[in-house]
Amino acid sequence: MTSSKSLLYLVFFLSLHFFSGFSTEFTVGGDEGWVIPKDDQLYNQWASKNRFKVNDTLLFAYKKDSVMAVTQEEYEKCKSVHPVYFSNNGKSIFKLDRPGLFYFISGVSGHCERGLKMIVKVLEPASPPQVATETSGPPTSGATKSAKVVVVFVVSLFGVMFV
Ligand SMILES: *[C@@H]1O[C@H](CO)[C@@H](O)[C@H](O)[C@H]1NC(C)=O
Repeated sequence: MTSSKSLLYLVFFLSLHFFSGFSTEFTVGGDEGWVIPKDDQLYNQWASKNRFKVNDTLLFAYKKDSVMAVTQEEYEKCKSVHPVYFSNNGKSIFKLDRPGLFYFISGVSGHCERGLKMIVKVLEPASPPQVATETSGPPTSGATKSAKVVVVFVVSLFGVMFV
């Protein structure tokens, strides 16, 4: 009985996840956290495996390091004099407050060059279903909605398989 109950919860939460309004906190780099990686593309690989939306947060966990949000140019140079954001308290939480690209680098000299840097892409918010008010437009909103339900269903199925 307990397993079917937790199954139900799982399906429920997976579905909720799809219908936005819920923000997710991502721990950058997973269990390893924000540390100089062996592979200098590690953080960009981590970022490309995730889907970030507006209002999600990034948690940077590290020791004796720091994190800065910078411009693209500063990211490429691994250097910033006036970062948009700076934190060195060991557990930095950064809110992705807009769609588009965010650039992060370590503020410790030499660490960015050794791969402690990351680009995060935040998706444009999905347009609400009731936007299709114009009569000339094709009646896509119903189709889109059912497609979404199918996606939720399929994802839920996959979730169940991995329990
Ligand atoms: C993000 O959060 C702000 C402030 O809480 C809110 O006004 C805004 O609607 C949220 N945006 C999205 C896309 O959830």
